[in-house]
This record gives sequence, structure tokens and C-alpha cells, in this order.
Amino acid sequence: MPKLIIDDITVEVAEGTTLLEAAQSVDIPIPHFCWHPALGRAGACRVCAVKLLDGPVKGIQMSCMLPAQEGMVVSTTDPEAVAMRRHVIEWLMINHPHDCPVCDEGGECQLQDYTIAGGHGIRRYSGKKRTHVNQYLGPYIEHEMNRCIQCYRCVRYYQEYAGGTDFGVMGSAGRVYFGRFQEGQLESPFSGNLVDICPTGVFTDKTARFRARYWDYDMAPSVCPGCSLGCNTTPVARYRELLKTVARRNDAVNGWFICDRGRFANSAVNAPLRPRHAVVDSRESCVEDALDTLLLRIHALGELHGPGSIAVVGSSRMAQEAAELLPQLALRIAAGALCYRTTRKESTETSSFVELVHTGSSASQQDVRKSDCIVVYGCDPLNEAPMMAMAIRQAWRSGATVYVIEHKITLPCEFTLRATLDDVPLAEAERPVIICNLSAETDQLDKLLEGHSRLKIAPLFPAANSFGTALLMREHGAISLEEALADGEIKGIISIEADIPAALLGKIPFVAALDWQATATVQAAQIVIPTTAWVEMNGSYINYEGRAQHFSKVMNPGVPVKGLDPAGHPPHIHRSTATGGEALPARQLLARLIKLLDDGNRGLS
Ligand code: FES
Repeated sequence: MPKLIIDDITVEVAEGTTLLEAAQSVDIPIPHFCWHPALGRAGACRVCAVKLLDGPVKGIQMSCMLPAQEGMVVSTTDPEAVAMRRHVIEWLMINHPHDCPVCDEGGECQLQDYTIAGGHGIRRYSGKKRTHVNQYLGPYIEHEMNRCIQCYRCVRYYQEYAGGTDFGVMGSAGRVYFGRFQEGQLESPFSGNLVDICPTGVFTDKTARFRARYWDYDMAPSVCPGCSLGCNTTPVARYRELLKTVARRNDAVNGWFICDRGRFANSAVNAPLRPRHAVVDSRESCVEDALDTLLLRIHALGELHGPGSIAVVGSSRMAQEAAELLPQLALRIAAGALCYRTTRKESTETSSFVELVHTGSSASQQDVRKSDCIVVYGCDPLNEAPMMAMAIRQAWRSGATVYVIEHKITLPCEFTLRATLDDVPLAEAERPVIICNLSAETDQLDKLLEGHSRLKIAPLFPAANSFGTALLMREHGAISLEEALADGEIKGIISIEADIPAALLGKIPFVAALDWQATATVQAAQIVIPTTAWVEMNGSYINYEGRAQHFSKVMNPGVPVKGLDPAGHPPHIHRSTATGGEALPARQLLARLIKLLDDGNRGLS
């Protein structure tokens, strides 16, 4: 543990820590472009200069390249170091366009910040700038090579970290070019991280281009609902439109990155056909009237068909707070069934995996990245939960052996095929992890967990809150809708954000749907009450490992200003809420329904 002094502060750090990291550990910022916590050092940009005043090394040094050593005395504010950093910025700016006002990165650009902070305010160079031809890189990422400062972050990320092969660096000396050999869509399912990792505006999110400046954004910490991994994100919105999503660092979960599926998934939230108003029997209504009508219909169904003729149906995409209210609603209306799954198969599978995963046996993405032996068993991480494939690659890069059990899949790393789990030398590994989906045999996994104390498993559940709702299924004895409908007693359902297959939907005479998506269930429902999407409310999901994570409200619900109206604006009608803004989180609607039942004693029990 070398002890050194940085700007008069004594710092003790682990062996191998760079000066830049040592300074950061005591909140001393040092400018950097090419260094990145996930990528390490490259020594390419030379902007992290510090001066070593005493100790084993002396003079101006690059702080990202030099490991901290005992007795070093480092100054980040020495005039020579400050002048060096200012000159480097000036050199970088010789070819970089002075186009901040019209650059989409402006306001969230590391180069812009360091240029200002470094004191390079006046341009002295009056020659011609080097220019490049940009490439079309697909519908998601804009390419603007003139802004490149050759930090090499993009290519190091794309090739080394993410395993992409269709993007690289070409040329030499003063004419290096970062792009594809030919124009075309980037092939990596993690290409969107180029936007986050580029410290200037070479790669920007095309889907949100020129829509807002950083200081206009509505942002909040969130969790991706795309699969069960629970990757941390920061969605960005303006005027009730979800503009883009960027990765949010969480070392235990997704690290610094997210997959393209989670990043470029704004369309569902911004969909013009989203249910924005309550509807009763195909006529637009208000939420209060729709709730009243729903209570009357529940009562009428009970009178007609007897108690137990209604089922309450939730789903694995509901936030946990709403899901936890379903048993209370079911109790109040004496529901014939409480369901969180539509099919028997999914219900059985999720229940058995919740039994299997307990404290100590589930592997986080970080556990996978640190594993020395990974077994991919009967699942396809790249398609089912892409960031798990990214985690597998990081383990492989650190020397882990990756086994795939008799399955045709693609992974962004090398792997060895094995016929069965018994053919994998799990006992020899220090930190073995089995990655599977719910089709795996839980009995077999259970035996393996018993036999290998260090073994962890990462079961990929189908949806963001599959785990949380499976816990509730177990606690409240919920069954699948398929089972509930088997005896023909159920005549109506209250569906909360549930995607009910057409075959089951056809068997149900009365459907009330609370949802924010225009699903087939919503189309078939006699009563529709709009709920808010996850970015329009606070809530939490429990991911595949049993980790509960909170997400915060990013924006208000309602028709986006650049929205559904062909003229580009919702109707100019004076009202207290935005057009289409009466949607409420499902948990609030359920709480209201429960209160109405309690107040009016209109339940069937
Ligand atoms: Fe040190 Fe680039 S951050 S040389």
C-alpha cells in the first residue's frame, strides 16, 4: 500500500493504483480523455499531466500511466503542469471544429468542459483544419469525425471491451480515422455505448439529435425494464417525450454500459397509440367514472355469476408496488383467482426458480465478470439478456473458461462446447457461475448448488419484475390465468399491465384493462384505464438475482408536445392537466379502487 502526497493531501492506495485514480480517491480531479475506468489507460491524449516534485520519479508525468509509489510528492496545480495541460488542449483544438453552439454534444461534452476549465479561450491557430468524410453508421448513431481527438476510447471499447469486429481505426500519423471499412449499420448489440464513451461529439445519439440541450433535460435515475437484469439507466426526456436513454454506472450490476435494446427503446413510451384516456364501452371517459363503472360491473358480475367469477390478473412487467396491491384487491372483491402469469408453464417455472435462488446462490453481473468458470446452460444470453453476454466476455478477457452446454448460440467471446453439465470441471473452479433460463432443470441445479459451495447461478427471467411477482405468487398462492380459466367459472378479469394471449382472451366475456401500452388486452377491454409508464412514476423492480432497485419519475405523463397531432402539438385546450396526462401509476389506481371498495362496501365479500 504505497503512501504518497498529492496536493498536500496524504493518500494511501492499493498497489497498482495510478496517480490519476489516487487523486480521484481524495476528490482531486485531473482532466483525462483516453483513460476510462472501464477501459484503463492508453496514454494517448496527454491531458492528464501532473508534476512530481519529489520521490522516486520527478518532473512532468502522465498521471493515468504512472502507478502510485511510496514517497511520491505530486502537484496537480504546479504552473508547469497547468501550462502543459492548457497547451495539450490547444493542440487538440487545432483540428477540432469550434462548433459547440451547433454541436449536439454541446453542454454534455468533456472536451468542451476541459477546454474552458483548462483556460484555452482564444484561438491562435489560423490555418486550415483537417477534415474527414463521415459515415452512415445506421439509424441510431451519428458520426462526425472532424470532432475526433484520437483518444482511442471508441475503438478500445468497441473491439476490446465489447468484442465488435466491424469498427476500427485506420490511417496513420495525422490522419487516423475511426469508423467502419464500409458505411453501414454498426453490428455490435452494444454499439450505443460509443455515444456515452466518446468524450467529444464524434458519436451522438441520432434518435435524440438536436432535440434539447443538457440543461433542458428531464432526467432521473432509473432501471431498464427491457429484461430481468435490471441495468441502471438515466432516461432523458423533454416536453413529455422520452428522448434517449444513457447508461448509469452501477458496479454490481451493469458497470458502465447498457445494451442497444435497452438504450434505443423509446418508441413504446412515445407511441402515438398509447392509451391516454379512460374508455368505457368504446367511449372516452374520465378515470373516476371508469373506476365507478368498474365497481358496478364487478358487482353485477357477482350478482349474475356468483362470487369468484372475477380474476385479478397482474404481470411480470408491473412495478413491485402495484403488484403488492393485487392480493388486497382480490380479497376485497372475493376474486375467483389471483394471477401474475398467464400460462401454467411460466407460472411453474418462475416459482421453482425463486425457490432455488436465495442469498449467496445468485450471481450478479459483477460475479459473472469476476468468475473464472462460466457455464451457459440452455439459454442465449445475447438475445435474452444482452448485458449478461457482455459480462461473460469480461470474465473471458480476464482468463475465465466459458463452457456452453450443447446449444447453438453466439457469444462475444470464445467458448468450449460440452455435452452435459457433468462434463464441466466445476469443482476445479474458484468462482464458478451457471447462467441459464427458466427452461433449466431446477432439481439438477439444486443438487449442483448443494455439491459445490462456491457455485452461483444466474437464471435469466423473462421480464423486469418476474422475480418480484414470483415472490408474491408464492406468498399468496397465485395461479396462472390458464389454470383459473380451466373450469369456466371466471367470467371477467381485471387485467393490470398483463399481456394476455388471444386464445385466453377469447374465453373471457368481461375485461377491464389498466395499462400504458396498446396491447391486445386493451383492445379487447370494455373498460380501459391508462396507467403511467415506468419513466412517468416512482417504483421498483426486483431483478433476476433478487436485487430490489428503485427507479424515479423522469417526466410527467401526457401527449408529447411534438406528438400525435399532425400539426406537431397537442390541441390547445385549457385544462389543469396536460392532454392525455390523467394517467396514474397502477399502484395509485389500485389503491383508489381498494379505497372505493372499502368506503362503499361494494365488494362481493
Ligand atoms: Fe492520461 Fe489520456 S488520460 S494520457
